Amino acid sequence: MNVVYWRDKFIRYSKYHKYQKKFGFSSWHMEPVCSKPYVNDVIEYLKNAGKQGDSIVECGCGLGDIIADSSLEGFKRKGLDCKKEVIKADEEIFRKEIQDGDIRFEIGSFETIKGEKVDYYIAVNFLHNIAPEQVKNMFYDVLSSNEIGHVITDSVNSSDYPYCHDFDFLCDYGFSKKCLGEYEVQNGIRKILVNGKCNENM
Ligand SMILES: C[S@@+](CC[C@H](N)C(=O)[O-])C[C@H]1O[C@@H](n2cnc3c(N)ncnc32)[C@H](O)[C@@H]1O
Repeated sequence: MNVVYWRDKFIRYSKYHKYQKKFGFSSWHMEPVCSKPYVNDVIEYLKNAGKQGDSIVECGCGLGDIIADSSLEGFKRKGLDCKKEVIKADEEIFRKEIQDGDIRFEIGSFETIKGEKVDYYIAVNFLHNIAPEQVKNMFYDVLSSNEIGHVITDSVNSSDYPYCHDFDFLCDYGFSKKCLGEYEVQNGIRKILVNGKCNENM
């Protein structure tokens, strides 16, 4: 770990410690963004590929490092997380953005949204803990009851993580995948995958 990491960790701790104390979310969320290099690449991708007014939903949004990034202002944004303590913290941290109508947060998961048109649906950095059959069912829930343009997810190949998903089943919904980037994780590699509709320029 280098100087930048410890500086950013200190800054994040100073900013979020009071929320962790109040809401009791996991210490994982205290890790700075520089330890998750995929975060900025996903944000850059969204800024370049999307346009103002497009909708983005992030499932498993944590403390909003992706979905609540200020450079995504102008997109219609919603963050979902299954942990109440995480969403309660988001609602306080991003009170102004919520009041301004820039973003919404909701306790939930893949089955939460229904009948929505979503240009970019993101689920990164948690599916490696969930068995393939269940992941398939979770995507069935969201893809069969909404109109989703792109799915952004990740595939982690490491002996430290229980499951490495290839997301090939997304072909059945008309998606084809491209790799946005590869990132070192402990004992392996994380790939960020963008799945867009076949023949479309992603
Ligand atoms: C490791 S954090 C990643 C947060 C964010 N995606 C990021 O990359 O910075 C994983 C988050 O996913 C949430 N989560 C885990 N399983 C979930 C599920 N089945 N549905 C919704 N959220 C989930 C956790 O509560 C946690 O906040």
